[in-house]
Amino acid sequence: MTQSHPEISEEQRSREDALVQVVLDSFEQTGDARLKEIMTSAVRHLHSFLREVRLTEGEWKQGIDFLTTVGHMCDERRQEFILLSDTLGASMQTIAINNEAYADATEATVFGPFFVEDAPRVELGGDIAGAATGQPCWVEGTVQDTEGNALAGARIEVWEADEDGFYDVQYDDARTGGRAHLFTDDEGAYRFWAITPTPYPIPHDGPVGLMLAATGRSPMRASHLHFMVTAPGLRTLVTHIFVRGDGYLSSDSVFGVKESLVKDFIEQPKGTPTPDGRELGDGTWSRVRFDIVLAPPDAV
Ligand code: BEZ
Ligand code: FE
Repeated sequence: MTQSHPEISEEQRSREDALVQVVLDSFEQTGDARLKEIMTSAVRHLHSFLREVRLTEGEWKQGIDFLTTVGHMCDERRQEFILLSDTLGASMQTIAINNEAYADATEATVFGPFFVEDAPRVELGGDIAGAATGQPCWVEGTVQDTEGNALAGARIEVWEADEDGFYDVQYDDARTGGRAHLFTDDEGAYRFWAITPTPYPIPHDGPVGLMLAATGRSPMRASHLHFMVTAPGLRTLVTHIFVRGDGYLSSDSVFGVKESLVKDFIEQPKGTPTPDGRELGDGTWSRVRFDIVLAPPDAV
């Protein structure tokens, strides 16, 4: 693909074509058909890209240096390659491909780096806030399959940042908060207290942050509350809900927002009685409903 550079001679074009072909041919002996498909497609697209932008050798070096820095930024707590994938929309595209629309199944979105295994269990109506501060938010809904059957005992993992935009794993001490797991009741219903989500930036003190700054993009994520929902025999759902009216819905740095996941977090005036009689003094609170539908495992 050299359409934007019509000045390339036939001789030049045929040398470049020949190189692509020789590289593709080098994979001819690949025994694993899927690996062969992936490698040859990757080579075709990579060469197309190089030829389309007529990459200079200096730019190639800059690209290599950038990827090297991304690698150096990675450790057991920080995965800069996933952040790069997220900010290029590659994570969301992979999620879209692998969670194909099925009936009214709830849409999936990006997992993010802040999930923790073994978050504390809360009972129905319990509070996930722990050490995380913010405006109390009552979250309730149901979990069903696509035939409308209530899913009793579905496991719901929830996690979120505090009002300052930090997950507990980013605290410099061992406090935990803003995360828990719970199970739906016999009617497939759930309810819990959380905190009203607020916007926060993805980690942007590394090469991905430099890329965002150099391209005039914001690191901010639209306010959201993460869910992972599992029930035996159904497709696991990893998603979030977003706050309608949030200023970052159309510029979410990882392209995670789906219209179907934007919910009304309804602010309750001071003194409004809470659903479970909890006393909140003269503070405000909010409430949101999120009804979840799980697809069959082989839904395509
Ligand atoms: C998050 O929502 O937690 C997140 C997702 C992708 C990248 C960084 C953070
Ligand atoms: Fe998040």
